[in-house]
Amino acid sequence: MRHKNQTLGEFIIENQEEFKYSSGELSRLINSIRLAAKVVNHEVNKAGLVDILGAAGETNVQGESQQKLDVYANEAFIKTLTNREIVCGIASEEEDHFITIKGRNQNNDNKYVVLIDPLDGSSNIDVNVSVGTIFSIYRRVTPSGTPVTLEDFLQPGNKQVAAGYIIYGTSTMIVYTTGHGVNGFTLNPAIGTYYHSHPNMQFPEDGTIYSVNEGNYVHFPQGVKDYIKYCQREEGDRPYTSRYIGSLVSDFHRNMIKGGIYIYPNTAKNPDGKLRLLYECNPMAFIAEQAGGLASNGFTRILDIQPTELHQRVPFICGSRNMVLKAEEFMQNA
Ligand code: AHG
Ligand code: MN
Ligand code: MN
Ligand code: MN
Repeated sequence: MRHKNQTLGEFIIENQEEFKYSSGELSRLINSIRLAAKVVNHEVNKAGLVDILGAAGETNVQGESQQKLDVYANEAFIKTLTNREIVCGIASEEEDHFITIKGRNQNNDNKYVVLIDPLDGSSNIDVNVSVGTIFSIYRRVTPSGTPVTLEDFLQPGNKQVAAGYIIYGTSTMIVYTTGHGVNGFTLNPAIGTYYHSHPNMQFPEDGTIYSVNEGNYVHFPQGVKDYIKYCQREEGDRPYTSRYIGSLVSDFHRNMIKGGIYIYPNTAKNPDGKLRLLYECNPMAFIAEQAGGLASNGFTRILDIQPTELHQRVPFICGSRNMVLKAEEFMQNA
């Protein structure tokens, strides 16, 4: 139920019974993400004023140069999630290995694992363009009372109990799902409260925006090249409009509101694609499907892929239902 001026805090409490596991722990977990997001938001907002822009000087496990805000956001989320008796393990784009959290009594009896892309769109930080955070939540599969194992993190996306993103944009928003549709909340920075501004978000079934880094065009698989040509052809509602920010969160968010498709295919440089299955594609795929959209690697539903590695990459096609179906058709007929 939604009423006027409902806050995220009120929404979480009022919808608690909808959660599959209604112990209140998942609510508390989302609460702690909301808190960490405020801390990161504060730092992102003043990024030009303090010495937080630029490279941190380290290379992460992905082979990328870490930005200072990557490191800051990573620490902020890990700290906030560790301090509560809910999470038994965290895996992050910025960490080589997963982190085990034993809990206050060293009992290993917390139930949830969190996978996180602490700062998405790093390359946009220094130029004041929207960045984001992506999170994905599972119940552990190994027995409570033992330390988490890799198996707890390598679950297919269809086992997610919640997923969401924060967009640090012209306004800051949290958008998330617990498997009962997608809801968006906008932060009023003056009072530090998120309001339920976007109830029951839905991808339009059709769209006219395609988002892909066309600089890599010559290296794309034939099916993607054919689909892009299809988008550009003058026929019916085409040519479509090309929009690419370079922050998955922002490109996805715009496409969900306006109708569109996001594509990051495999290329010669990135033979498995660039985006990470566990930190980026699975959570976005869960949100997309909950909003009536689709997410695929061109051949298989993203959420049905059995992960084999923590930092696994996968080609990603995601967005309005009919657009993804059309792109898949081109992929499969190429
Ligand atoms: P991250 O900043 O978390 O490493 O993710 C970057 C990702 C994603 O946000 C974006 O859509 C994509 O990389 C952009 O890649 P290109 O610059 O190769 O287009
Ligand atoms: Mn990165
Ligand atoms: Mn990312
Ligand atoms: Mn990142």
